[in-house]
Amino acid sequence: MKSGLEDVVAAETVLSDVDGKNGRLIVRGVSLDDLVMTSRFEDVVALLFDGFLPSPPDLRAALGAARVATFGQLADAGALVDLPPVEGVRALLARLADGDDLPTALELVAAPAVFTAGLLRLKAGLAPIAPDPELSQAADTLRMLCGSTPSAEQVSALDRYLVTVADHGLNASTFAARVVASTQAGLTSSVLAALSALKGPLHGGAPGPVLDMLDGVGRPDNADAWISAALADGERLMGFGHRVYRVRDPRADALKGAVRMLAASGAIDPERLALAEAVEAAALKQLRQRKPDRALDTNVEFYTALLLEALGFPREAFTCVFAMGRVAGWVAHAREQAETGRLIRPMSVYVGPAAREAA
Ligand code: COA
Repeated sequence: MKSGLEDVVAAETVLSDVDGKNGRLIVRGVSLDDLVMTSRFEDVVALLFDGFLPSPPDLRAALGAARVATFGQLADAGALVDLPPVEGVRALLARLADGDDLPTALELVAAPAVFTAGLLRLKAGLAPIAPDPELSQAADTLRMLCGSTPSAEQVSALDRYLVTVADHGLNASTFAARVVASTQAGLTSSVLAALSALKGPLHGGAPGPVLDMLDGVGRPDNADAWISAALADGERLMGFGHRVYRVRDPRADALKGAVRMLAASGAIDPERLALAEAVEAAALKQLRQRKPDRALDTNVEFYTALLLEALGFPREAFTCVFAMGRVAGWVAHAREQAETGRLIRPMSVYVGPAAREAA
């Protein structure tokens, strides 16, 4: 038995490859480094869906129409605002039809953005803003969240985030989606299982603690002492290190570029950025000193935290924003798995008491 199924191969996929040795993420033959320079979220959805679902003539328009179609679910969502946002989004997603066709797939990709923005506004005592089907998913998400037209840099930063997280091999939520898809349940069932897995702090929950760390450090000139004390206490620094990536986390580099772009446009509080840079520098320096044999680099969560905070998402909704991107991968993996026609049904080792003899 391999605890945590570590090193167990449980699927063949054409969708993405996490190449930890070389620090690369390949999505359908394109490295993430190239993908973020050439593609928007809609292009990546099309890339992931290709061959698994029919291609609409204009995916951006089809996704816009799907946002409009899902918006009606918010009409009676007031009772959900006291739930954590990810649970509210899950409850609304559960209302969608459980098909395995393109309309279902598009609604599932559209819905996390519509539901997250709508629930956050309802919680703030504001009315949800109806989607604008003419906009890109990233632009419309920020518009529905903030109620104003976002800057080109803000749209580009969210778009880059969505592209960066759209797929990542057989992570826990994607595996959950594939297990459900293998039973021939519908795509909505797969996405609900995946979102439930993502909700757990061991999977989708690290960017919030990165901000808690920045809050704890407080001032740039406190970074060295704070990091040193945390490491002396045996704590792990949030936003550093990775189980698979051994040289670099390519997603961190992709998001670092987006954070720099936001900073250049004045969309990040310069004091927050200075604090984050001081914390990153102190953490990298001290991790190198303490673990010279292990490349412990900045990971995707560190820049995700800065980026989503700067875009105006509250930290309790970060998992929902992760789902807005990753849902594209979940749907594609669910279709890929269902097409194999093979039920996923592993074995367990019984370690309980032996059967008692009848008296
Ligand atoms: N801070 C401090 N020390 C760390 C560390 C971190 N972020 N990441 C790893 N280390 C240490 C480990 O404690 C271990 O030390 P030891 O040999 O004295 O026990 C050593 O470095 C090697 O660890 P490694 O095998 O590379 O890490 P892992 O595979 O066990 O863990 C993570 C990978 C991601 C769980 C780990 O790096 C971590 O907890 N990071 C912080 C949380 C985080 O950012 N998660 C999001 C990941 S995308």
